[in-house]
Amino acid sequence: MTDEINIGLEGVLVGKTAISNVEGDIGRLSYRGKDINELSKQSLAAVIALVLADTELSEAQAKTLDAWLASESELSPVELRVLEQLGRNLHPMAVLQALAPITDTKARQPLPNFIPAHLEAAMVLAAKQSAVVRTWHNLCQFGAVVELPEGLGFCEKLLYAFNREQPSAHAVRALETVQILQMDHSFNAGTFAGRVVASTKANLTASVGGSLGALSGPLHGGADEAAVMMARSIGSPDKAAAWVSDALANKVKIMGMGHREYRRLDPRAGILKPMARHFCEGTQYQELMETLVAVEEACQVEFAKKDKEIYANLEFYKGAVYLALGIEERFFTSLFACSRVVGWAAHFYEFNQDPRLIRPRALYAGK
Ligand code: COA
Repeated sequence: MTDEINIGLEGVLVGKTAISNVEGDIGRLSYRGKDINELSKQSLAAVIALVLADTELSEAQAKTLDAWLASESELSPVELRVLEQLGRNLHPMAVLQALAPITDTKARQPLPNFIPAHLEAAMVLAAKQSAVVRTWHNLCQFGAVVELPEGLGFCEKLLYAFNREQPSAHAVRALETVQILQMDHSFNAGTFAGRVVASTKANLTASVGGSLGALSGPLHGGADEAAVMMARSIGSPDKAAAWVSDALANKVKIMGMGHREYRRLDPRAGILKPMARHFCEGTQYQELMETLVAVEEACQVEFAKKDKEIYANLEFYKGAVYLALGIEERFFTSLFACSRVVGWAAHFYEFNQDPRLIRPRALYAGK
């Protein structure tokens, strides 16, 4: 035992994982050995099965799973009543965190037989988180839950509820891609928080509750919302360079920039940037997108002067895509959670294959 303190645990190995591999030095990310660039072209259901069950689905199986997730993405009457009682000023992340431990994770219909039975609770939780988010959105925005037509797919349901109209196939595909990109990322703060809770032999929903709390902070999932707010407050691309140099001189962190692991461009940001450009072009968000690009460019100039290797991360352009899909800032992080819950659950089961109570030491510094 040493008395050396490492508050942020940088570089400390705390376990093994076969779920995702973050190769920060070469800017590569893979789930279950498959490159994220390749996975971003697959269906969301196929990637959920890969991450959670380590199973590769046929196209027909992926469609079956998507339909199953869509129909499990409904709240029980009790869950709905709880949401209706909550103050509308609550952030969607607080609502997700409140609901997680009391969620009924029993499926209403049989789990497709190509998914291992022990994953039922995780699959239901993933489906229901999406229902919590869209229901909370509808209650806050419209004062009532939007009635959805029969037969919508899993992501289609969410987009329909947010926009009160049938989303295009193109928009559904974009949401699926964003959700794939953020499904897992090794031992990040939220996943590690979930492992700490799991290590006490707490159940899946308690573990996910811990992860949700960690994800809500602006240094983690909240950075997507913060990046858009930053671009809005800058106002236009021509003001970005002065804003960035002033911010850095005052030690202000630029949200959506930098990453503990990546020393190259975050590959997820590389996929999101052209998508964001495409979706924002010709919309009310074009200037916001151009401001983000200008901030990124100004950061590169400023960081290079200080020999720092800091690049845009997943959060930087994600908000622009969400906005163009009709998802407002307040809901960004909760959408992130709807995808990351799959990774958290995968880590919960992986951790429990070789569990150990996580209990570090503190150096007493009191009287
Ligand atoms: N804006 C300005 N400076 C930044 C920065 C950012 N976004 N990210 C890192 N830096 C600077 C730090 O100020 C520090 O400078 P110093 O050595 O002069 O003190 C240096 O780069 C190293 O940063 P540090 O905070 O120690 O790195 P980290 O590995 O702890 O940070 C983050 C990782 C993610 C916490 C950090 O980059 C950050 O706060 N980013 C903004 C929030 C964000 O986008 N989070 C989402 C992550 S997916």
